[in-house]
Amino acid sequence: MCDAPEKRPDGTGEAGARAQAIAPAALGWYDRSRRDLPWRAPPGALADPYVVWLSEIMLQQTTVAAVRPYFAAFLARWPTVEALAAAPDAEILAAWAGLGYYSRARNLIACARRVAHELGGRFPDTEEGLRALPGLGPYTAAAVASIAFGRRAVVVDGNVERVLSRVFAVAAPLPAARAGLRRLAGAATPATRPGDYAQAMMDLGATICVPRRPACVVCPLSAPCAARAEGDPARYPARAKKPERPLRRGAAFYVTRPDGAVLLRQRPPKGLLGGMAEIPCAPWSVEFDEAEAARFAPLDARFQRVAAEVEHVFTHFVLRLSIYWAEVEMERAAPQGCRWAPARLEGEALPSVMRKAIAAARREAAATLRHTA
Ligand code: ADE
Repeated sequence: MCDAPEKRPDGTGEAGARAQAIAPAALGWYDRSRRDLPWRAPPGALADPYVVWLSEIMLQQTTVAAVRPYFAAFLARWPTVEALAAAPDAEILAAWAGLGYYSRARNLIACARRVAHELGGRFPDTEEGLRALPGLGPYTAAAVASIAFGRRAVVVDGNVERVLSRVFAVAAPLPAARAGLRRLAGAATPATRPGDYAQAMMDLGATICVPRRPACVVCPLSAPCAARAEGDPARYPARAKKPERPLRRGAAFYVTRPDGAVLLRQRPPKGLLGGMAEIPCAPWSVEFDEAEAARFAPLDARFQRVAAEVEHVFTHFVLRLSIYWAEVEMERAAPQGCRWAPARLEGEALPSVMRKAIAAARREAAATLRHTA
């Protein structure tokens, strides 16, 4: 075990030997066992930068399984960066709904337009150039530079951190260990096939060097792995205790008309769930007082409280919403900032938390109507 990642994994010493052993073993394994993913080029080829960029943006904080259908739908509908850039925001946001983290969708739109309108439809082919685009942080820029352009870029995501923290038995906890892990990643990254290497490490982290029960018996890195030699690889990466997410609460108002239309409004373009649709809500806050909920109702009506509440985990807080439901007459005008949306809510960019709230309200409305029928 090393307390701090070793400072000179430069080909000398124990850490250097481990670093040198990683790429050949990982690439050999990748050639035999890589996952068949729709954004990947055939072995030895570079993938289309648009395809790589699109997949990498979608994969930020989302699993491969969740991304697959979205990726296929986006690519079928917008096969080029120009096509995506020409699409209306609302269509893209609606197609994105369910992937979460809507600032990513906003950046996706901004980036597509920058590339299509200012860069002649070509993605920059360096890490630095990519980094200047909206939504491309260090990880994504490095991933696209290596996978689409064959650049030797140091690609470090959570999977790679886990694999390396085990191979080098890095005892320092995350996030403090991050800078050291980056150095180790730099020492391990090969000059040839850097994109395949990056994806090999991702696949290893996703399929073999998994968080809880790593399958060391079939791992191509078991020989150089210090954590395996110690006998308890799952204890890496060490983690500092996470602060608890605060609980924010609020009330959501599900208002319908007899034809089933639902009252919706648009969230402000910037910030959390920016530009997405929602049913009107009281502000979400730690101090929310249920007794005050009625003050935030979007219109005057006989609201009844839905028995169920919905909860949703955001990155920095947990949201719990109480739900109120009312039906108003057909002629009722939508209040300012709101609009009536047809009952099916087709094409509406509704975030998951709102879909949950609407489903809960609809379940209760259906039950109420059964009782009174
Ligand atoms: N996660 C993020 N990018 C990925 C990729 N290219 N392959 C597999 N998993 C990934």
